Parts: sequence; structure tokens; C-alpha cells
Amino acid sequence: TTPLRLGIAGLGTVGAGVVKIVQTRANLIAQRAGRPVTVTAVSARSRDRDRGVDLSAYAWEDDPVALARREDVDIFVELMGGSDGPAKAATEAAIAAGKDVVTANKAMLAIHGQALAEAAEGAGRVIRFEAAVAGGIPVIKALTEGLAGNRVTRVMGVMNGTCNYILTRMESEGLPYETVFEEARALGYLEADPTLDVGGIDAGHKLSLLAAIAFGTKVDFAAMELEGIERISIGDIRHAADMGFRIKLLGVAQMTGRGLEQRMSPCLVPATSPLGQLEGATNMVVLEGDAVGQIVLRGPGAGQGPTASAVMADVIDIARGFRVATFGQPAAGLEQARGARASAA
Ligand code: NDP
Ligand code: HSE
Repeated sequence: TTPLRLGIAGLGTVGAGVVKIVQTRANLIAQRAGRPVTVTAVSARSRDRDRGVDLSAYAWEDDPVALARREDVDIFVELMGGSDGPAKAATEAAIAAGKDVVTANKAMLAIHGQALAEAAEGAGRVIRFEAAVAGGIPVIKALTEGLAGNRVTRVMGVMNGTCNYILTRMESEGLPYETVFEEARALGYLEADPTLDVGGIDAGHKLSLLAAIAFGTKVDFAAMELEGIERISIGDIRHAADMGFRIKLLGVAQMTGRGLEQRMSPCLVPATSPLGQLEGATNMVVLEGDAVGQIVLRGPGAGQGPTASAVMADVIDIARGFRVATFGQPAAGLEQARGARASAA
């Protein structure tokens, strides 16, 4: 059988994790995908860095755009990060060269996802990004497949592992912000620019993607109300605890009479509630649909294994021939959005 050939750009926490899964679970993945999945070429900045995986069988490209255009690559896997620069250039090049794309890059998608998805659709390709939202939790699949028969009414949750890790460790261990921040870095949770994490921006990126999928609207990160956790002190955390609450960076997206409302900010939640009991880098996403009611998804939101797990799910979906666009579907909330815009006009 002809193998499905991956070109992986970015061999950091997530990229090395994907290589590990391809190498250690080859038979399982071949069974699930219906054909072998191999890596043919890789790219990163430093060729010499030890990444804990054997890359000797793969072609090396210094330039991710050249990797994206290679004839021996079927799926371009973008794991470099950054909203613009090489990630965007290589993703565009891959689509133009007729490749499908899998990415974990929520920063790029929150700004350029709409245009990239339209370009992919125009070229008859797909761009999939399960890993971009809530790490290992299959929340995009839950929305696009599991809740396909629902009108989604609300999406909310804790979607940044770093912030939840920092807030819960500061509270449980009484550790200063700087110490737990460094712990999060060592665990591979942080973005290359960690102000995206603690500023609430990364979580806002994720919520903007989920909102677009849930309500059938265009991705509109610019309209998000945002506040991060930088100004939360141990004193704030203790006062909240004294009153039976915990502070969580919580996102809410819902359709109102004024249109789509999207907010990501520190909130007080009851300590005994499911959200209040979230520890460490765990994420929790709450989805509400008119038929199903409320469902709660909880799991690891960051780190090597969980994120690589979500990337591989997208690769296997593409291998299985699953080609439905994630954005631009006539999703459950589309009529609501149109109605809200019409009544606001
Ligand atoms: P890392 O910083 O660990 O890795 C980034 C990789 O990209 C490195 O291998 C780096 O090369 C490479 N790279 C950066 N710039 C270039 C360039 N110009 N040309 C070629 N290679 C380049 O990031 P992560 O693995 O943590 O994250 C990757 C993506 O996954 C990001 O979009 C992130 O937001 C997303 N993500 C991360 C999660 C996590 O838990 N870490 C979870 C969910 C999503 P080199 O190693 O040589 O420096
Ligand atoms: N920096 C992100 C987080 C990685 O901490 O949640 C997962 O998207």
C-alpha cells in the first residue's frame, strides 16, 4: 500500500512528540489509517540539536517553505508556531502545492485561519487543527461531529494549561509566580512568547476558533474581550479561597441579540464545582447544545504527548478520507448569527 507521507516543520515539544508516535506506533497507526504513515522530511532552525528522537532516515530542509513544496510530502505538518512568518508562508505554500495541512498553531489560525481555510477549500485541500484547541482533548471533533445535530448555544471553559498550572500551584503550594512559571516552562507548556499565555491571548485565540466552529461565524479574534492573569496575586487567590472560590482564566462564547459575545478573563468559580476542581495544566471545555444539553470535556491541555496525540488524530482522519472543512460549515449557529446581525442592523 502507498504510504501517507508527512513533512514536519518544527521539531520542538510537539514536533518531536509526533515523530515519537509515528516511530513507536507504526502498526497501530497503519491499521487505523488504512495505510502506513511515514515521515519523509523535517525542518527546524538548528540541525544539531538533540531532540530525543532519531531523525537520520528523514530528509532535512532548512527552509520550511521548501519542505512544504516537496513532492514526497502528502501532508504538511506545521508545528513551528507564530502567527505570521515561516508558519504562515509555509502553510500557504503547502496549500498552493496541493498538500493537506495539519497544524497546532492557534495564533496563526486566530488571525489567518479564515483565509487559509478558504485557500485550502479553493485548492480542494483541508487544513485541520485539533491540537490547536485544548491540547489532547478532542473538542473540535466533539463540535463538528458529535454535536452536528445540535444548535450550539454556548461554549465555555479553561483553555490555557499554563495559566491553570500557575494559578493552582500558587494556591496549593504557596509558591511565587516566578517559580511556577519556570516549572511550566520545563514541562513544555509555554508558548515561545509566554506573554501570550499569561496575557490570556492564547486562550482567546482558542476560544475564537471554537466560537467560529460552534456558531458558523467567521473567526473574529479582534472582537474578543481579553484579560490575563498577570495581575492576580497570591493575596487575591487566598481571599477567593477564604470565600469558597478559585480564580480561573475562563472563556465564554455565546450568541446574543447583539451578535456573538466572546470573553476570556479571570473569573471566580465555586471551589466545589467541576471548573473549580481543575488542577495543573488540565483544560475543561463545556459545550451546550439545544438537543444534548450540556457536555463537559476535561483533559490535558498542553504538553508533548497530549498535543502530539491530537495532531496524529488529524493525520489519521485525512488518511481515512475525512475531508469536511472545519470552518465554513453551515454550523448550528449560522442562522442565529445572521438573525442577530440583521436585527442589530
Ligand atoms: P517549540 O518552541 O518547542 O518548537 C518550535 C519548533 O519550531 C522548534 O523545533 C524550532 O526549531 C522550530 N522553528 C521555529 N522557527 C522556525 C523556522 N523559522 N524555521 C524552521 N523551524 C523553526 O514549540 P512547541 O512544540 O511547544 O509548539 C509548536 C506549536 O504547537 C505552536 O504553534 C504551539 O502554539 C502549538 N501548541 C503547543 C502546545 C504545547 O503544549 N507545547 C500545545 C498545543 C499547541 P529549533 O528546535 O531548531 O529551535
Ligand atoms: N501554551 C499553551 C497552554 C499550550 O499552556 O495551554 C497548549 O495550547
